[in-house]
Amino acid sequence: SARLPVRPRVHIVLGSGLSPLANGVKDPTMIPFEGIPGMPPTTVASHAGRFVAGTLEGVPVLVQAGRYHLYEGHSADTVAAPVRLGRAVGARVLVVTNAAGGIGSGLGPGSLVLIRDHLNLQGASPLTGPVRLGEERFPDMTEAYDPELRREARSVAEALSLELGEGVYAGLPGPSFETPAEIEMLARFGADLVGMSTVPEVIAARAAGSRCLGVSLVSNLAAGRSLRPLSHHEVMEVAQEAGARLERLIRGVLGRLAEAG
Ligand code: HPA
Repeated sequence: SARLPVRPRVHIVLGSGLSPLANGVKDPTMIPFEGIPGMPPTTVASHAGRFVAGTLEGVPVLVQAGRYHLYEGHSADTVAAPVRLGRAVGARVLVVTNAAGGIGSGLGPGSLVLIRDHLNLQGASPLTGPVRLGEERFPDMTEAYDPELRREARSVAEALSLELGEGVYAGLPGPSFETPAEIEMLARFGADLVGMSTVPEVIAARAAGSRCLGVSLVSNLAAGRSLRPLSHHEVMEVAQEAGARLERLIRGVLGRLAEAG
């Protein structure tokens, strides 16, 4: 088992196509998922499946490239396993990123969107079953996406002249993309973004009292919001282009955390 040189403060989960952000980690220690108990191999080609521990902007971080999804057949418990591990090695802040479909007006491909809240429509929770050590049975989810971290992110975005939207993320099980009727339903539910991840990780983090910051990168307009059919390829392409902006935003937020001590 790999020893971490420093105790990470922040756990950063990189979504589809965003793995290159792990390359910027200083003094990296690579820890593949493979061999970690409770962490089976991942099956999505674009999700490598490893941790990179080191520092970003002077902050000790645990960067996670690749994640588990319910649609791979994993339980919500497995999906949340990396977050629980991050917490166990010291991270009290979780930064989750994902690629998402844009529902709300103005959320076109390439948009960066701060997650204000979520809808758990995945039919599963990582908290089902016995209460895990250090977790609450009934965690409050009122401020699942930490208001203070959101304020910092908005402030960083403004300072860097990065456009940053804000919205509600609907987490669905997938793996088929939604029908236009489902997207219309989600819009009426108050969702601005739709994706197939993030919700189990944030629930597990909140149960342990960690603070969460979520950022979606809109890879495509949701079904029925554009004339083009959806493709995983499109998701990857947009992620690469916009990943650089997301990296600047995350680095900026980490810089603020470093200043705050
Ligand atoms: N729907 C669900 N998940 C997604 C989408 C989408 O349109 N784009 C990227 N992940």
